[in-house]
Amino acid sequence: MSRESGAGRTARATPSPSTVGRGKAIVLPRRATPEATYVDAWVSLQRADCQDCYAGWQRPAAIISDGAYGILGFEGDTSDHLDLPLWYEPHIRAWSAAAEAHTTLWFWNSEIGWAAVHPVLERHGWRYVNANVWDKGKGHIAGNVHTAKIRRFPVVTELCVQYVREQTMHGMPLKRWLLSEWKRSGLPLSRANDACGVADAAVRKYFDQGHLWYYPPVDKFERIVRYANQHGRALGRPYYSRDSKRPMTGAEWARCRSAFRCPHGVTNVWSRPPLRDGERLKAPHGRAVHLNQKPIDLMTRIIAASTEPQEVVWEPFGGLFSASLAARALDRRSFAAEIDDTYFRYGVQRFTVLSRG
Ligand SMILES: C[S@@+](CC[C@H](N)C(=O)[O-])C[C@H]1O[C@@H](n2cnc3c(N)ncnc32)[C@H](O)[C@@H]1O
Repeated sequence: MSRESGAGRTARATPSPSTVGRGKAIVLPRRATPEATYVDAWVSLQRADCQDCYAGWQRPAAIISDGAYGILGFEGDTSDHLDLPLWYEPHIRAWSAAAEAHTTLWFWNSEIGWAAVHPVLERHGWRYVNANVWDKGKGHIAGNVHTAKIRRFPVVTELCVQYVREQTMHGMPLKRWLLSEWKRSGLPLSRANDACGVADAAVRKYFDQGHLWYYPPVDKFERIVRYANQHGRALGRPYYSRDSKRPMTGAEWARCRSAFRCPHGVTNVWSRPPLRDGERLKAPHGRAVHLNQKPIDLMTRIIAASTEPQEVVWEPFGGLFSASLAARALDRRSFAAEIDDTYFRYGVQRFTVLSRG
């Protein structure tokens, strides 16, 4: 999606009324008894406002947001980035309430759209990890840009920004809690090295309070916990407990952090042309059904990197449900919504074709 930026302006207190969309390539005729859901063993797709669906969805390991960009890209999109914070706020609040400690959020947008919404994400407990740039290449604008007129360099990128939950334990960031529990046990710091069976790495890495802090792997966490509970002051036990009744297990510790696997050779610049091939859904007259259909390979990349098989992916702004399609191919379950009946029906077709084939 390309957009006009309005840098320097500030967010509006109330949304502007212009949210009509730029017109669709096709609108399917109304049906007498329209199907509003498609459900199989892996996916649940709803023709609905996602805000009415969140409460019924299972908790997500990943949320893939590809909603408003502030370019009137669909009916309901805003006309510029200034309204995006208000547009996203109720969704972000709902995502935060449903997220688990290990949930990853992938937030697709333009650079100015993301910049406008980032403070809202932070306010609701999402911690920025990385901005990935989808570079669509010059082919995206070929023959389309009046360079003498636009007064900026042509935009051929979108962002897909990775967020995780800001983790706290008893009101403390994890790294502070790890050290504070050790101190509470009355053990000297050097004995954490004994606990982990290393010369000095444990204290340097796991108890560092700055940028050198290193999240203890499960086996090291288990050793620290066992040691503190065996050798620490009897009075304060249990140490490293979430419920003050028993120490946390390694499995529980592993769930405190989002999954991430980086495939070899992949960086945060994703050079990939926009969809023009057979993957692009076309109306009978040949125009693309949806302006913003995302490539399945990019959706596959982020889902594979941040979730495990059988885990749940949310796609609140489904469009043609590209993320759910990718999730299904990876044996992940997905919950998705699309508010527009035409998009919903075209999107559902992508699944019914699969189940027939
Ligand atoms: C940027 S498009 C998503 C495209 C999608 N990623 C794909 O690959 O096809 C955003 C979609 O969100 C839908 N939408 C907007 N607000 C919504 C809401 N509150 N609930 C459900 N869908 C919504 C729009 O109709 C639009 O189709």
